[in-house]
Amino acid sequence: MNRGVAPADIERAAATIRRGGLVAFPTETVYGLGADATNDAAVRRVFDVKGRPADHPLIVHLADAAELDRWADRPDDRARALAAAFWPGPLTIILRRGARLSPAVTGGRDTVGLRVPDHEVARALLEESGTVIAAPSANRFGRVSPTSAEDVRRDLADDVDVVLDGGPCSLGVESTIVELVGDEPQILRPGGVPADSIEAVLGVRHIARGVGAPRAPGMLASHYAPGAAVELVGASDVAGRVSELAAAGRRVVAVVAADGPPVTPSALVTVVRHGGVEELARQLYRHLRDADVAGADVIVVVPPRPEGLGAAVVDRLRKAAAPRPHG
Ligand code: TXA
Ligand code: MG
Repeated sequence: MNRGVAPADIERAAATIRRGGLVAFPTETVYGLGADATNDAAVRRVFDVKGRPADHPLIVHLADAAELDRWADRPDDRARALAAAFWPGPLTIILRRGARLSPAVTGGRDTVGLRVPDHEVARALLEESGTVIAAPSANRFGRVSPTSAEDVRRDLADDVDVVLDGGPCSLGVESTIVELVGDEPQILRPGGVPADSIEAVLGVRHIARGVGAPRAPGMLASHYAPGAAVELVGASDVAGRVSELAAAGRRVVAVVAADGPPVTPSALVTVVRHGGVEELARQLYRHLRDADVAGADVIVVVPPRPEGLGAAVVDRLRKAAAPRPHG
């Protein structure tokens, strides 16, 4: 039961949530840093620990789709259809907020992002705590999201009261965020549910992609960034680029498909192979973190095709590769 997490640990974590503490917990996407979404002080602590600007809203996690009406203000048929199709699962739906949530959760906005995670530990925690849990990814702002309990402990150490260890995340990239506030649905962040699956349920041909002012920090240019530089290179250029970097004395990690082009490992070059887009998604943040631990200067990645789950992987890679504001 609960992937190795004992019921007593769930109870202790739920009690921590109820008294306003912070609990890191596994979901199918990434680990979340959770607080009672109805408790102002607890939610403010999440922003402090993450180092996240107060106007960047948190996703609110529900135990069950039946709770949609309690936490959103009059969800429409589109919201119900998406919830029925994809919850529990990696889809966050943005709707007008209900009145019970802490205003801090939504960064002063009148909308809220809701999702039911597809992970038995997360759902056991939600059920046992008897509330809804606001949780961003359990990393410091702008850095790589955690996909294991070890990642969370390394990043947040004593700033979190309880870490529930549910093993590595099965999906590895964050939820898709779809906004249903205006007449036209929009995808604000590609993620675990592909855009065409959402289009099929909503009966729209080309769902809009959110552009313009970043509404979600995941939309800032530089985000999900490891310490090493990240470069995206086409399959035909990867061997050449890797040898060029190595010749200049840089330590390189190359991430390439198992059936991709040959790249020769050396003292300066580590080659990581993956068996396709699902495995790449699951391991992506692991590779970025491992490269930092290994002291790499540059991570060179051949991106997958930007389709289906590949759209989320390419989005995260582009943000990891974007120029960094603080060098
Ligand atoms: O898979 C996930 O979504 C993970 C797990 C833990 O559930 N959570 C996650 O949270 O990725 P976070 O905080 O790292 O990213 C949530 C994104 C942010 O970019 C935030 O701005 C956006 O969701 N968001 C939340 N509420 C919003 C709202 N009302 N309007 C626009 N964007 C919103
Ligand atoms: Mg995040």
